[in-house]
Amino acid sequence: MALTLQNKLSIALLLVVGLCASQAWSRSLSAASMNERHEMWMAKYGRVYKDTAEKERRFNTFKENVEYIESFNRAGIKPYKLDVNEFADLTNEEFQESRNGYRFKPLVTSSSFKYENVTAVPSNMDWRTKGAVTPIKDQGQCGCCWAFSAVAAMEGITKLSTGKLISLSEQELVDCDTSGEDQGCNGGLMDDAFEFIIKNKGLTTESNYPYDATDGSCKKAKSGSHAAQISGYEDVPANNEAALMKAVANQPVSVAIDAGGSDFHGVFTGECGTDLDHGVTAVGYGTSDDGTQYWLVKNSWGSSWGENGYIRMQRDIDAKEGLCGIAMQPSYPTA
Ligand SMILES: *[C@@H]1O[C@H](CO)[C@@H](O)[C@H](O)[C@H]1NC(C)=O
Repeated sequence: MALTLQNKLSIALLLVVGLCASQAWSRSLSAASMNERHEMWMAKYGRVYKDTAEKERRFNTFKENVEYIESFNRAGIKPYKLDVNEFADLTNEEFQESRNGYRFKPLVTSSSFKYENVTAVPSNMDWRTKGAVTPIKDQGQCGCCWAFSAVAAMEGITKLSTGKLISLSEQELVDCDTSGEDQGCNGGLMDDAFEFIIKNKGLTTESNYPYDATDGSCKKAKSGSHAAQISGYEDVPANNEAALMKAVANQPVSVAIDAGGSDFHGVFTGECGTDLDHGVTAVGYGTSDDGTQYWLVKNSWGSSWGENGYIRMQRDIDAKEGLCGIAMQPSYPTA
């Protein structure tokens, strides 16, 4: 089957992992037959299939992905290499379904943008250095990026308003924010998460209501013990990177991107589209050594992804939507 360019780039996203961690393993792998490789890969990641038909289907996807990686690396066109990771038996479509989960909806213009008249915007910002960002989390095989994005933004504003950095519960959103548009592992929206949090009068801590990457029933007692609150949320004016910069200069901001085509190495400059399918959090911005302006983005795919779990995405591009649509639907909670 011939892969389109878009497919190839998407598979690049699917298969890129931290090279250092798995190089030894992939060396031993390359000598083995494809069947053996699949068996070794299954053992490494504890993969179990329900029957032989499922196994055969998965093997074929695994084989296609591995062959693509090898030809990509042989070609040596890009400055980075791909490697086999835990998603190697998923097609690109399956990966996006299971990992992303941002439900695009047309933007309803919000009434106000509190940073509208901000003029003092520093040229660099990194909320990690101000203690407003919790360690990288991993959403696993559950499409609740929207919960991770909203929680990271809320953790940021909580630190800024109370001085305390508290890791908050995504699972509470997955289990309890179910009466509106948000649907746990099947996707949701950050703005709807903020609405739930306001009505719920807060969120509890990660440790009180830990993440388990599946849809469960709402544990009301835990959900009742709030560790942090927000009073509202606002949308950043759409398609306006200057407005987004004003917001990110003041707090971490939830953003939606088209993650379908992303890979990483240094500052990511594309290619990608604007079909928003993934929620992440802009936690800063700056300019790289080679002069490329970027957004610093916290992802929720574990710390072996990207640059220790983060990606720097090119900023101030010609398209008003921003790279991968990053300026299309940003929003932030208010204290
Ligand atoms: C920004 O300034 C304009 C003009 O003075 C004012 O009407 C508007 O309310 C201000 N916006 C905010 C969010 O303060």
